Amino acid sequence: MKTKWFLLSMATLMVFGALGFGLTRSADGQEAGGQEVEEAAEPEVGPSGQPIAFPHNIHADQYQIECQYCHFSVERASAAGIPPMSTCMGCHTVISGQENPEEITRLRDYYNRGEAIPWNRIYKVADHVQFPHMRHIAGGVDCAACHGNVAEMGVIQEVNQNLTMGWCLNCHLEMGASRDCTVCHY
Ligand code: HEC
Ligand code: HEC
Ligand code: HEC
Ligand code: HEC
Ligand code: HEC
Repeated sequence: MKTKWFLLSMATLMVFGALGFGLTRSADGQEAGGQEVEEAAEPEVGPSGQPIAFPHNIHADQYQIECQYCHFSVERASAAGIPPMSTCMGCHTVISGQENPEEITRLRDYYNRGEAIPWNRIYKVADHVQFPHMRHIAGGVDCAACHGNVAEMGVIQEVNQNLTMGWCLNCHLEMGASRDCTVCHY
């Protein structure tokens, strides 16, 4: 246990030192995924609050990878989709990472063990609510309207809303979308 904490704090120092993130994630920012963390038998959480400190800015801004390349079902399904391991390994069998190679090592370790990466979910609506991504994308609503400017984020953080009914309804009112109870509630 002691060794684990030591390694974690070492890694924290390295991540903060190299990227200068400072406060990457507050405890509050993890609220949505919190339950999953507690339920998991052996929570594997890196210093970033995620099992791997995945930097959106490097991928989506610096290397201009389209959101849809990874969030493959956002235009056609309710769920946006989290990329499978094979998407990452297409590049990271050869790209080792210059600034934080230890994060790529963690990625390869999951791959070699044949395990999926247990990402902590950030955005999640209540079970009695349905949220169809494809309807919003077809309606011309930008990812940033709900998730903030993800392309500029290091490790992703929850932005500006708690997925309350009022938040949904305000925008539906503004944009003339349906406010019929049954479109959001089964
Ligand atoms: C190279 C693949 C990749 C690209 C490109 C990418 N993402 Fe992601 N995204 C991920 C992974 C992996 C996660 C899960 C890890 C995390 O949450 O940090 C994620 C998580 C997210 C989440 C949070 C999901 C949750 O848990 O609720 C949002 C929102 C998101 N991405 C939006 C975007 C947007 C918007 C873009 C384009 C500007 C984008 N992503 C581009 C791989 C990618
Ligand atoms: C299209 C190619 C591509 C894909 C797909 C891709 N990456 Fe990357 N990734 C890169 C490049 C390029 C870098 C920058 C490497 C560098 O600076 O040395 C990078 C950097 C990273 C870093 C930071 C490493 C560092 O040294 O700062 C992490 C962590 C990472 N990727 C994880 C992932 C994960 C997890 C996935 C799958 C969800 C993924 N990547 C998918 C190309 C890709
Ligand atoms: C109108 C607001 C809105 C827009 C626009 C939006 N999202 Fe989301 N996103 C949400 C909500 C709400 C959730 C939680 C949904 C749930 O729990 O079912 C979510 C969840 C996610 C997740 C978590 C995993 C999953 O499979 O759903 C990802 C990834 C994501 N969004 C990516 C994107 C990307 C990429 C775009 C743009 C192409 C986008 N979102 C546009 C509101 C939005
Ligand atoms: C930033 C603005 C915005 C936010 C925030 C937003 N929506 Fe929407 N939503 C829209 C727009 C615009 C449409 C209509 C798209 C179209 O024309 O079909 C839509 C359509 C929908 C539909 C399909 C309605 C139908 O007529 O079948 C559902 C369901 C829905 N939204 C649920 C939600 C939920 C649940 C939330 C909150 C978690 C939410 N939306 C938040 C803009 C938003
Ligand atoms: C645009 C989507 C949307 C529409 C339309 C909508 N709701 Fe909701 N509703 C939500 C969301 C999202 C939540 C979850 C809020 C949360 O977890 O904080 C919710 C929560 C609720 C709850 C539970 C309250 C709670 O504290 O958890 C009730 C009851 C409810 N809605 C009733 C209604 C009724 C009645 C209507 C029609 C007049 C309606 N909703 C229309 C999105 C919607």
